[in-house]
Formats: sequence, C-alpha cells, structure tokens
Amino acid sequence: MKNVVVLNGPNLQRLGSREPEIYGEMNLDSLTKELSKLAESLSLSLEFLQSDSESELIAAVHRATDAKQDIVINPAAFTHYSYALADACKAHTSAGAKLIEVHISNPHAREEFRHKSVISASATGVIAGFGFDSYKLALRQLAG
Ligand code: DQA
Repeated sequence: MKNVVVLNGPNLQRLGSREPEIYGEMNLDSLTKELSKLAESLSLSLEFLQSDSESELIAAVHRATDAKQDIVINPAAFTHYSYALADACKAHTSAGAKLIEVHISNPHAREEFRHKSVISASATGVIAGFGFDSYKLALRQLAG
C-alpha cells in the first residue's frame, strides 16, 4: 500500500475557529478523519503532521524523501517566505518523489503577500481554493 505524508503548517491546528469565513467551520481532526476515510478507498495509507515549527516540517520532508514517500503539504504562511522549506521540497521532488502543495483558500484572491509562493516551483503540482477538497484532489492524483 502506498504511503503518503500529509503535512500542515502553522496555525492550521486552529481550523474551525480561525477565520471560519475563509477556512470553514471544520477542524483539523475532521480533516484528518475525512482524508483517512478517502485514503482507505484509494488504497493509500496516510501519515499526518501539523506543526508551527519550520524545522519540524523540514525534518518531516527529509524523512519522506529518504523513505521515497509522496507528500501533500499545506505550508500555510511558510508558503510565502520559507526558502528553507522550499529547499527541502526541491530536494524531495529532485529525488523523484511527488509533492503536492495545497491551500484551503485561494491565496491569489487574497492579500498581496499571499500571491507569491516560494514553494510552488519545487512542487509537482499546486491545488488551491477548494476548501478541504484541495487535499482530497491531491490524494486522488497521487493514488493515480
Ligand atoms: C493557507 C493560505 C496561506 O496564505 C495562509 O497563511 C494559511 C493557510 C490556505 O490553506 O489557504 O495559513 O495555506
């Protein structure tokens, strides 16, 4: 069974209470449950990590690179300025594994500072603006 790592960046543990008009009313636990259910039907096994720490996310990308696991990542605000995370993502895709960048909202329709992603150039693909479905579309893509 193919194993996929699902990474969520800073503040995403606040889903459900954080700006629900943008991110919806469902929390991170509901997202994890929904994705786990979908993964079963796609014959994927998932590993989850949410962290506010850049170094923890980078270490998780490195582990996935070494294990040749595909990644679905919502880098949250790190999207816009973390060259360190971008370098880890680049090393991951250069090593031949896939990495899909996802966003719940459409950052391009929001404040100017969200229009730039330093991660996208290192990603296999990007899915944004579909709420929790952004993650589901990414899993479907990885399941082939
Ligand atoms: C986000 C968009 C980012 O701009 C923001 O910093 C987030 C969440 C999204 O999923 O829409 O924390 O990545």
